[in-house]
Amino acid sequence: GQPDTRTPTGAETGTPSTAHGQQGPYLTTAQGARLRDTDHSLKAGPRGPILLQDHHFREKITHFDHERIPERVVHARGTGAHGVFTSYGTAANLTRAGFLKEKGKETEVFVRFSTVLGSRGSADTVRDTRGFATKFYTDEGTFDLVGNNMPVFFVQDAIKFPDIIHAAKPHPDREIPQAQSAHDTFWDFVSLHTEAQHHTIWNMSDRGIPRSYRMMEGFGVHTFRLVNDADETVLVKFHWKPKLGVHSQVWEETQLTGGVDPDFHRRDLYDAIEAGAYPEWELGLQVFPDTPDETFAGIDLLDPTKLVPEELAPVQRVGKLVLNRTPTNFFAEVEQVAFHLGNLVPGIDVTNDPLLQGRLFSYVDTQLTRLAGPNFHQIPINRPHAPVNDMLRDGFHQQAVHAGVAPYRPNSLDGGNPFTSDDGFVDVPVRVAEAPKIRANPVSFGDHFSQVRLFWQSMSPVEKEHIVRAYTFELGKVYHQQIRERQLQCLANIDPVLCEQVATGLGMPAPQPAGELPEVAPSPALSQVGEQWPSD
Ligand code: HEM
Repeated sequence: GQPDTRTPTGAETGTPSTAHGQQGPYLTTAQGARLRDTDHSLKAGPRGPILLQDHHFREKITHFDHERIPERVVHARGTGAHGVFTSYGTAANLTRAGFLKEKGKETEVFVRFSTVLGSRGSADTVRDTRGFATKFYTDEGTFDLVGNNMPVFFVQDAIKFPDIIHAAKPHPDREIPQAQSAHDTFWDFVSLHTEAQHHTIWNMSDRGIPRSYRMMEGFGVHTFRLVNDADETVLVKFHWKPKLGVHSQVWEETQLTGGVDPDFHRRDLYDAIEAGAYPEWELGLQVFPDTPDETFAGIDLLDPTKLVPEELAPVQRVGKLVLNRTPTNFFAEVEQVAFHLGNLVPGIDVTNDPLLQGRLFSYVDTQLTRLAGPNFHQIPINRPHAPVNDMLRDGFHQQAVHAGVAPYRPNSLDGGNPFTSDDGFVDVPVRVAEAPKIRANPVSFGDHFSQVRLFWQSMSPVEKEHIVRAYTFELGKVYHQQIRERQLQCLANIDPVLCEQVATGLGMPAPQPAGELPEVAPSPALSQVGEQWPSD
């Protein structure tokens, strides 16, 4: 075989090495030479210029000059924590993934929470979607669940992701606004691409301004496929349910907290964990039969702008997450962590959701730039806790000294035919449609309004009032009249009362809906969560 020789200190646990921290009795250069003076540069006399030969000065400044790496192209602003996931064993009949199957099995995790649009130094408190990304360091390899605090997404096809992000990020000319949806390009996009209206109303609701990361739900959004020991499959959606329930700030509160403490959520998470008030979530699954049409109750499970109401498919609890350790070094852990949907373990597979499919490409691609080269899986926070025995070699920032001469198989020099395993990952051999190559969506993706209406109708009067005020405020910041009119038309297609109230707030006439509005049954479960938390 080809042994894994990557063994820097602390790597196994994701804990950064302190070997190069300021722990010893004396300071050294990066090469280990003891320093006599690190406070004065070498000059031609006390009043003279600095000499080029001052290697210590140049080493110190050069390293400093290169301390920053590019921030994430999205989700740049975030914070994170370590924790433990404990399986209830209740998913044993659904998946062969050991970390879910075995009752009581504990798995180390790292979670990163984030806003989406703001830059790394922006405020925590803005109206935005929140990222909820979890790295499970399982015995069978790393599994990443890269979710958000909202169950639906703006676009149905990953090819439109750059477009929505270009529209939602600050205007290219004036770099305004830093991190809010209150601007023309955002509303231009979502009113022209009406598939975005569902995610948009979640943003305009109190879900867009959470009270705390500890009080957010998380959603895998896409439908995934689980496979059990008998090779039977089901389709599932992943849910995180917070023990503390779901809570939001009100808008005026966010203005105060954001002004007084832009680190409001970062501080809240850190302080809670340091005080021993460990945040907890349960992982849950909505489970659907794996039928050829990949729909449930008429809902297309491959459409990431649709959810499945919980009355139709209750969330089955399969394990518990406790966050119990703050990062030692923010850069090493929170900045350098690299999530990816393709990090799967045997028993969990992807579906053909066209947004999910595109994400499978995008994350590693961006990380090749962000983390400078192909070896970022060797950074401590990204190392699997399962044994690694791969044939990846060389490249920028290689940390390993690989032994052996034959990183290929079969070979007749380094052990022949190593490392294939019956327990290895098998892609579920789902049938790939015999269909024409085409740039098109399924017909069912054309329904852009019925679930938005469902969401609106499931809200309490106070929640509705908050939504109306959010639309009114955000649209009030839009300069172009035609964009406001187009978004009001979308609101008319969602609900006449919503439209009328926002129009009144904007001092504009309310348009009529385009066509019949669909009848939908109110869905209280959309706004009620946390009620089923079991006793420990
Ligand atoms: C980053 C969630 C769609 C590209 C992230 C992060 C989260 C997330 C939570 C932050 C990860 C971290 O904390 O480091 C989601 C969800 C999506 C979605 C829930 C839809 C359901 C997409 C799509 C693309 C994309 C469609 C591109 C086609 C990226 C990129 C990053 C990112 C490039 C930065 C990754 C990095 O620099 O490490 N996403 N995302 N996302 N996402 Fe997504």
